[in-house]
Amino acid sequence: MAYRWKNTLTARDVTPYQTYLNRRQLMAGAVAGAGFASIGGSLQAKEGLEPNSYEDITQYNNYYEFGTGKTDPAANAHTLVTDNWTVKIDGMVDKPGDYAFEDIMKAMTVEERIYRFRCVEAWSMVIPWNGFELADMLAMAGVQSGAKYVAFETALRPDEMPGVRFPVLDWPYVEGLRLDEAMHPLTIMATGIYGKDIPNQNGAPLRLVVPWKYGFKSIKSIVRITLTDEEPATSWNKANAREYGFYSNVNPEVSHPRWSQASERPVGGGLFAKRIPTLMFNGYEEEVAGLYEGMDLKANF
Ligand code: MTE
Repeated sequence: MAYRWKNTLTARDVTPYQTYLNRRQLMAGAVAGAGFASIGGSLQAKEGLEPNSYEDITQYNNYYEFGTGKTDPAANAHTLVTDNWTVKIDGMVDKPGDYAFEDIMKAMTVEERIYRFRCVEAWSMVIPWNGFELADMLAMAGVQSGAKYVAFETALRPDEMPGVRFPVLDWPYVEGLRLDEAMHPLTIMATGIYGKDIPNQNGAPLRLVVPWKYGFKSIKSIVRITLTDEEPATSWNKANAREYGFYSNVNPEVSHPRWSQASERPVGGGLFAKRIPTLMFNGYEEEVAGLYEGMDLKANF
């Protein structure tokens, strides 16, 4: 497609699935991440963005089903069984059903997308995801004309998820997007990082990535996707509606009630890393501002 990725790879840089597979084979036995220096290098030359290390991305996480500490998911998520994973797609679709993860992967084209990732807690990373556009997956199920929103649900498995014994959130974790946000070409389902299968702590086997929104919208380990005509409930909004809205677009001008969102701390820069300014829509303003034309972004936070 001819779509241009400002601050990310351009469509020309996207890796076809076969190349991706070959690269994965090349990667086998290599130190994680080392084989991708060229991608980081070309991105850096073009955009000045440098991806975080594989270690940063996979050892500093938020995945409350496995504990609320930043290193808990990496320590605990190995218990999640991702074999025979299915995603139920239901609601306003032509072909509702349980879609096997393997079948989804066969039908989709996996690409690399190097995106900024900005958590509402004001830390950030640059992550080289592998994945496919959510729009392509939704097309597989056939979105009906009345659908206006997409609701997502994470697996809820108390035997495999030690964190769900604690009522930190109303489990299962749920999220939602407006249909036009879901169909936007920047919105992807990530299935890998640095060319390797996505680790459990990052949301295996497939998780949403919406790079212009705060990280909590990017729901992990998805088991259900529902097309609906009503705005879906979202976990953090249910937990604290005053602090977390449905939209949650990255916006340096709209503070969280308890802290400023004007700047962020890049993870991996060490304890005394300099904060950097947060960009409108996390740097994707040119691509996504049109989705919110005429909307009061402070009221619709
Ligand atoms: N999805 C589920 N199911 N449970 C969670 O706790 N945390 C969210 C989001 N998706 C979360 C989740 C938050 S707050 C962030 S910042 C990102 O995942 C973190 O993604 P990462 O660990 O891959 O960086």
